[in-house]
Amino acid sequence: PAGTAYQAEDATVGQGTIATNHLNYTGTGFVDYTNIAGSYVEFTVSAATAGSASVALRYANGTAVDRPMDVTVNGTVVAPGVSFPATADWDTWATKTLGATLVAGTNTIRATATTAGGGPNLDKLTV
Ligand code: GCU
Ligand code: CA
Repeated sequence: PAGTAYQAEDATVGQGTIATNHLNYTGTGFVDYTNIAGSYVEFTVSAATAGSASVALRYANGTAVDRPMDVTVNGTVVAPGVSFPATADWDTWATKTLGATLVAGTNTIRATATTAGGGPNLDKLTV
């Protein structure tokens, strides 16, 4: 199945801004993480049933340097230091897909920058 998309610009942002200054995002914009460790985007997602799910983060990284992030589900780190490597430029988006175990009903999925560069630009999460 294609999954449900959750736009980053509709999520809870901790140290970041909603931006539109690059091309090819979906929805009405994307989140530009503040360039600092600890900046995050948290999505509230709904799962019909408990169990494993595919979680895809669409991002752009127009630098030459990785922008790793910790991914937490319901407050627990399930994927530490996930790599968000360079894309061709800030207009070029790639998708990083992870597996995660969700509970039935409401879940929070947070992606937190772990280095001083902050996170990549984040367009959406698809579950
Ligand atoms: C540039 C770019 C931003 C990006 C930032 C960064 O300013 O325009 O979209 O977020 O670099 O390095 O994080
Ligand atoms: Ca940024």
